[in-house]
Amino acid sequence: MDLHARRADSFGAQAEAYAEHRPDYPVAAIRWALEPLGTDERLDVLDLAAGTGKLTSVLVAEGHRVTAVEPNEQMLSELVRRVHDVRALPGHAEHIPVPDNTIDAVFVGTAFHWFDQEKALPEIARVLRPGGVLAAMWVEPDPACGWLTELDRLSRSSVETQRHEPVEVMAHPSFTPEERASFPHSHRRDSPEAIAAWINTYSRLLVVDEEERAAITDKVLAYLRGREETSNGPVDVPLLADVFRMVRVSA
Ligand SMILES: C[S@@+](CC[C@H](N)C(=O)[O-])C[C@H]1O[C@@H](n2cnc3c(N)ncnc32)[C@H](O)[C@@H]1O
Repeated sequence: MDLHARRADSFGAQAEAYAEHRPDYPVAAIRWALEPLGTDERLDVLDLAAGTGKLTSVLVAEGHRVTAVEPNEQMLSELVRRVHDVRALPGHAEHIPVPDNTIDAVFVGTAFHWFDQEKALPEIARVLRPGGVLAAMWVEPDPACGWLTELDRLSRSSVETQRHEPVEVMAHPSFTPEERASFPHSHRRDSPEAIAAWINTYSRLLVVDEEERAAITDKVLAYLRGREETSNGPVDVPLLADVFRMVRVSA
């Protein structure tokens, strides 16, 4: 398995920690993504690469009928344990286990960069109704926050190559060109240890050996314990949700 595939499949080994420590998604980003549908009604929504359900639970709370698709068994079991009122199915973006023309919006949370777009885009187009939306979003540290940018630098591992975004989206005849927007979000963490636990759920740290991960965690903790912003009490870590949306055009 090459590094890209190993990283894409790395999350399950830490599924519980992932569910415990990763942030969720801002409602404003979801509503912006759905604007082209021009309705406030309950929609048929697919959360593709749903992981442990961080985005799924916000979609359910928004009142939509949600199907969650996720290839990793451990992530999917965690989702089923934590999120109710959802249809949860094993499957990949390149082969979605859902019939043609049945979905109003496909959401992808912090995972579109793992997809093989040449296969995934036609699959997503197949399940969407005409006028439906594909929306991919990433919640990432706010680059305007100095201590967080330094933390990001300190926590790079030997497999870190480049940051995910902005991900280039292939032009595809079934979709309008993408529109992008960003939304502020935050992630409450009670201690330096809780911030380190969040950082440790990124694939760049999941695929390295324990020795390297422990050395990075020590560095991260020393940094966080030494900073005024992070050493005491709860911190609202500033995040940005970057979103793109594309509309499924009629055949
Ligand atoms: C960073 S996690 C994001 C999970 C969840 N959407 C969230 O926001 O917390 C990336 C997820 O993408 C899944 N994944 C990786 N490659 C995939 C593919 N080709 N098709 C569907 N899911 C994939 C992984 O199993 C993992 O659960």
